[in-house]
Amino acid sequence: MEADGRSVRVSRRERDGDGEPVVRADDPMTVVIFGASGDLAQRKLIPALFHLENAGHLPERYAVVGVSRTPMTDQAYRDAMRAVLQERVGEQTVTADHKVVQALHYQAGDVGDAASFQGLKGRVEQLEREHNLPGHRLFYLSVAPTLFPVIVEQLAAAGLIRPCDGPVWSRVILEKPFGHDLQSARQLTATIRQHLDERQIYRIDHYLGKETVQNILSFRFGNSIFEPLFNHRYVDSVQITVGETLGMEGNRGAYYDSAGTIRDMVQNHMMQLFCLIAMEPPSALDADAVRDEKVKVLRSLQPMTPEEVAEWTVRGQYGVGEREGKIVPGYRQEKGVKPDSSTETFVALRNEIDNWGKRLAAQVSEIGVRFKRPPMLFFREVAQQLGVTPAPPRANWLVMRIQPHEGISLSFACKRPGMVVRLDDVTMDFDYQDTFQTRSPEAYERLLLDALRGDASLFTRSDEVEYAWRFVSSIIDGWAAVPPPAFPNYYPFTEGPDEVSRLLAGLSAKWRSLHDAGPK
Ligand code: BG6
Repeated sequence: MEADGRSVRVSRRERDGDGEPVVRADDPMTVVIFGASGDLAQRKLIPALFHLENAGHLPERYAVVGVSRTPMTDQAYRDAMRAVLQERVGEQTVTADHKVVQALHYQAGDVGDAASFQGLKGRVEQLEREHNLPGHRLFYLSVAPTLFPVIVEQLAAAGLIRPCDGPVWSRVILEKPFGHDLQSARQLTATIRQHLDERQIYRIDHYLGKETVQNILSFRFGNSIFEPLFNHRYVDSVQITVGETLGMEGNRGAYYDSAGTIRDMVQNHMMQLFCLIAMEPPSALDADAVRDEKVKVLRSLQPMTPEEVAEWTVRGQYGVGEREGKIVPGYRQEKGVKPDSSTETFVALRNEIDNWGKRLAAQVSEIGVRFKRPPMLFFREVAQQLGVTPAPPRANWLVMRIQPHEGISLSFACKRPGMVVRLDDVTMDFDYQDTFQTRSPEAYERLLLDALRGDASLFTRSDEVEYAWRFVSSIIDGWAAVPPPAFPNYYPFTEGPDEVSRLLAGLSAKWRSLHDAGPK
């Protein structure tokens, strides 16, 4: 950060008392997870159900059915998921008779096979009878996106999905990516809309479930001192940064090589952050009002011409490096990645300024808003009278830290005590953990609960997805029209390719380094 780190702390004043009403999904239901033994189910979905149950958010009666190819008994699945939970949340807390563990069932099935879906239907109906569940169903598609259409078709053909306006609900959660480009996203929407109403489709962008991301609208529109400032009169530039030190851990090479950073992160998470920081206030905090405003932002984003792509984007790929005395493989040496791959692992684009990538110097997600500088006349005059070099105030930065060290900081200039006018930069810092001292629900907990309650505000609508693709596809097309850059072009654990600095040429904007991140 530009400020040199003198910091002011923030205190909290309780407004509504300590007690928080427990939001509960009341409808007894069945959750069916496709990809039941996959990485996401293990790392996020089952732990999310576990925490939701412990916090009293789940209904009194429910069943969970995991679907995957490998044959397994209910008991084997319960044992496996219990082991996962024990590893993630602590040995003692997860007993075999925990309600979530007991609610788990397993059904082996092949998604291309109609008979598997008949088997699944029989199983779901049997559980609904046994547990007195009225037939509300949530299907979670935690599988390769190429399988979305076939699963939705098979679910519909087997009669597992009920009509939208009937007495019981059927909802389908789709993991990203939604399509590979604009055309395939449209195609995907058209196919699944043959069987599902838009109101039954929940497209997850887990960034929207993060506490700090949800706070963006509360912060912007709930504070009269900040609300009027978010416009071109006061804002000089906005820098959205997501840096990860991770490479292709977790066997992600093959997937990533066909996606790249632009599809993996920019088309979805970055576009969503961009919408939240740029949108006008919604008329209500309901699903359609919020998404209508986001769509306005995305519609205003014109596709880039090939010339603009060349001028305003930088892509990179990490090479071989070293950390703690060990050689770290370059991207092209990662498992599942083609040895001559030209897939990008870093993207910077000047739109305002967005910067995303893997194997960077720090793990940081944040939105930095840089305000315009005040007129400097007064400071110049003082300096002239004193015969010293003027020290103009630096730009104020408002930084929303999404992760880690979740919080918000505001830097401003302050006169240093003494006989001459000298400005120092100080920082007011708000830290979630220090202030609230409570566990923030994980993104997937929030999103699962919302889907169970039928609240789609934090899920992306088809028009949002398409407008985001319209913009991102123009970049992908611009890149495809020219020979790939000479990759690799950045060392791991750095700030990315040096070329990034050219994006700021001629702008008053200043680059926030990854090293500037974190509380000051
Ligand atoms: C996922 C991407 O959507 O988001 C990953 O596919 C990325 O490549 C991840 O690592 C980052 O999420 P988080 O919550 O760890 O910031």
